[in-house]
Amino acid sequence: MELAGNGLAKGASVVFRGLRQVYGSTVALEEFSLEVAAGEFLTLLGPSGSGKTTALNALAGFIDATSGHIAIDGVPISDLPTEKRNIGMVFQNYSLFPHLDVLDNIAFPLRMRGLARRPARERAQTALDLVRLAEYGRRMPHQLSGGQKQRVAFARAIVFEPRVLLMDEPLGALDLKLREAMQLEIKQFQRQIGCTVIYVTHDQGEALTLSDRIVVMDKGRVLQVGTPKEIYDAPRTRFVAEFIGVNNVVPVARGADGGWVLDGVGPVAAAVPAESRYAALRPEILRAVPGGTGAVMGTITDVIFLGDVVRYAARCDAGGSLLFAQRREPGGGAHPIGDRVAFDIDPADIVFLPE
Ligand SMILES: Nc1ncnc2c1ncn2[C@@H]1O[C@H](COP(=O)(O)OP(=O)(O)OP(=O)(O)O)[C@@H](O)[C@H]1O
Ligand SMILES: [Mg+2]
Repeated sequence: MELAGNGLAKGASVVFRGLRQVYGSTVALEEFSLEVAAGEFLTLLGPSGSGKTTALNALAGFIDATSGHIAIDGVPISDLPTEKRNIGMVFQNYSLFPHLDVLDNIAFPLRMRGLARRPARERAQTALDLVRLAEYGRRMPHQLSGGQKQRVAFARAIVFEPRVLLMDEPLGALDLKLREAMQLEIKQFQRQIGCTVIYVTHDQGEALTLSDRIVVMDKGRVLQVGTPKEIYDAPRTRFVAEFIGVNNVVPVARGADGGWVLDGVGPVAAAVPAESRYAALRPEILRAVPGGTGAVMGTITDVIFLGDVVRYAARCDAGGSLLFAQRREPGGGAHPIGDRVAFDIDPADIVFLPE
């Protein structure tokens, strides 16, 4: 077996069509449809209870969806038991067997498939090499750090060369620094193996970092699918605009003179689509000129120091509030609370939303 560096994209495509899953009176998935390309890194992102784990469970065969259709590489899988679906899985609680050493833990899926212990441990060693823990085969799980355990769980999930790998909040139990390091590793491992990954998180920064495409979900439905850049720059609904990154979302309406007004901010001299109900303005698109004058004026009410960037909250003279961000000059300071600023907003940077 060649786990690493074979240069072959071995991932399978996955199609969900019209999946519906009901638990009593709870609708966990509703008209859930999605096409995942072979070899893609796709992330399901959504608030708690939005149906992310349910979608993975249906694909893995842990539940029979109430209705709908799932296919892997074009082949319907509803009649295949879990172990025949060739899907690897990594969860937040690594669920390593405490009484087995690292190699036997990784070899476990191979032993389940009938391989003898010796060849199974040999293949497990190859997977362990891939996650750069070559020397750790004889350790017991309790002798590993959190990050090491997670890498062992990853090795165990890929040792039988699954064509699809499901990861459900695999880094949720790790601290921030380790999580960021592991994000880079997961991405590297996936490139080496070439399998399709469906990843679940409710950390939107992680989704932006890792994914080829992001699926934003809410209440069991897919709200928007797109690349990280598309989801960030061109959200289609208020929910997506507010869920991903920091955003100012304000209602828009026609003023008395027929022109458009950003509620609580001021008039907007832009070609606004007729059906618009909200405007989304990222903090980084707002140019705030301290001591300036203009149509949109405000007073700084909060200063949030983020290191390379300073984020401010301002109360507009028209009554609303806006978050804006400014890159900090090396060694430079921040504008104090109470400073007056004029906002210079390029209408081309505003995203208008119909709902
Ligand atoms: N076995 C079950 N029995 C009853 N209700 C369930 C069951 N599993 C999930 N649900 C419900 O289905 C909905 C979706 O749950 P799911 O676990 O898919 O959410 P999630 O997006 O993974 O959330 P989280 O981010 O908290 O893990 C929730 O309302 C949940 O309470
Ligand atoms: Mg979940």
